[in-house]
Formats: sequence, structure tokens, C-alpha cells
Amino acid sequence: MERAHHTGKGEHMKGEQRREKKTAPGGEARVRWKPGTMLYPVPAVLVTSGTMERCNVCTVSWTGTICTDPAMTYISLRPERHSHGIINESREFVINLTTRALARAADFCGVKSGREIDKIAHLGLHLIPSEHVAVPSLAESPVNLECRVTEMRPLGSHHLFIARVMGVSADPRYLDRKGTFNLQAAEPICYSHGRYYQLGREIGRFGFSVRRKKNMR
Ligand SMILES: Cc1cc2nc3c(=O)[nH]c(=O)nc-3n(C[C@H](O)[C@H](O)[C@H](O)COP(=O)(O)O)c2cc1C
Repeated sequence: MERAHHTGKGEHMKGEQRREKKTAPGGEARVRWKPGTMLYPVPAVLVTSGTMERCNVCTVSWTGTICTDPAMTYISLRPERHSHGIINESREFVINLTTRALARAADFCGVKSGREIDKIAHLGLHLIPSEHVAVPSLAESPVNLECRVTEMRPLGSHHLFIARVMGVSADPRYLDRKGTFNLQAAEPICYSHGRYYQLGREIGRFGFSVRRKKNMR
């Protein structure tokens, strides 16, 4: 009855009911896979390391926010990455958020090592000094998170670098007249199952599920 009300189409309803039966919880057996990193989508950020004179950049998806106050983040790197050695030594890095315009650079920096090539020079990227760390930030990035490592934990294939966010800088081009940052205008990207995607249509704002509609008051 409920579904008929939503669709308003008898035929369509029958189809939906058939599908529901098949996939209902406790119905058909689930496909089971061995343990893996199936959490998607993930970010694809550009992590800079080193100094203004000798800077490397690599793409990282194993990253995220882990604490609001103090602001803390992490990156997880394989020990064989050139960036791993640099960050392990200096205990600093910058997370540079990526955009549609930076997608090619993100892919390139994720397949080429700084051991073989100066990726920044090759891609024509521009470095700007950071405020809180010696590691430079990427000028092309809309937001840069300047990070200082507080802990390094070998986990297995990857080593986890837990870090304090010491400062954040942003490209003023994305500030509106009220000073609100409009990241959507920067066309952010993410990574999922080996493919890059530009973030799409907004489908709701924080708390929209419980907010009363104006015309229902
Ligand atoms: C989208 C994407 C995400 C990646 N995420 C990670 C990651 O989280 N950790 C990691 O160790 N390597 C990751 N890589 C691989 C490194 O970026 C790649 O090995 C790179 O060449 C390392 O550069 P480096 O040797 O100059 O540090 C990723 C690659 C791509 C394309």
C-alpha cells in the first residue's frame, strides 16, 4: 500500500515487490569476500613532503580526519614510498586537497616516484611556503592542511602517520562575499574502485532529515 502510494503505478509496483523479495534481509545469501579495503569512496589528496628546495609529492587515499579538537588527521604509507622516508625523518607533511583540474596530477603522483623524477617540476606545479611547517604547500590546491606527526605506527603493509593539523590555508578565489568557503566551486574529486570522480549534486544539508519543512509549519 505504502509503495503504491509512492510510485502511483501498479506495474512498476509489482516489479519493485519482486526485487524487494529477492534482496530482502535474510533472503538470498550475500556474496562474501576475503577481508579487504572495500571502504569507498576515499579521498585522493596530494601529500607534499621535504622542503622548498627539495620537495616531493605523492598521492594518498588512506587519509582522513580522526579528531576535531585538537584537529588531527592521518596518512598511511607503504614504507617503500619515497615520501615515507622523508616524512619519517622530518615528521612533517602537507595534505593538499585535489580538484578536477588536479586529477591528472593526482594520478601521475600516484604512479611515479620522487626517486625517479621531480614530479613538481614535471607537472609545473607551484610551491608556496607553509606557515607552520617547513614543507611547502601546493598553490594549485584549494585547501592545504599543514601537519606535524605525533606518532608513527607500523601496521603491516602500511605505516600509519598520526598528525596534528597545525594550520590550514585556503585559496581566496573560493571565498564568497560573506567569507564562506565554497569548496564545491573548486570541483573536488574522490577515488573509488580505481576510478576518479568529481563530486556531484548536493542531495541534502546537515540535519535535513529532522528539519521541519517551512510550508509544514
Ligand atoms: C589514487 C591513489 C591513491 C594512493 N594512495 C596511497 C596511499 O594511501 N598510501 C600509499 O602508500 N600509497 C598510495 N598510492 C601510491 C603512491 O602514491 C605511489 O606509490 C607514489 O608513486 C609514491 O610516490 P613517492 O615514491 O614519490 O612517495 C596511491 C596511488 C594512487 C593513484
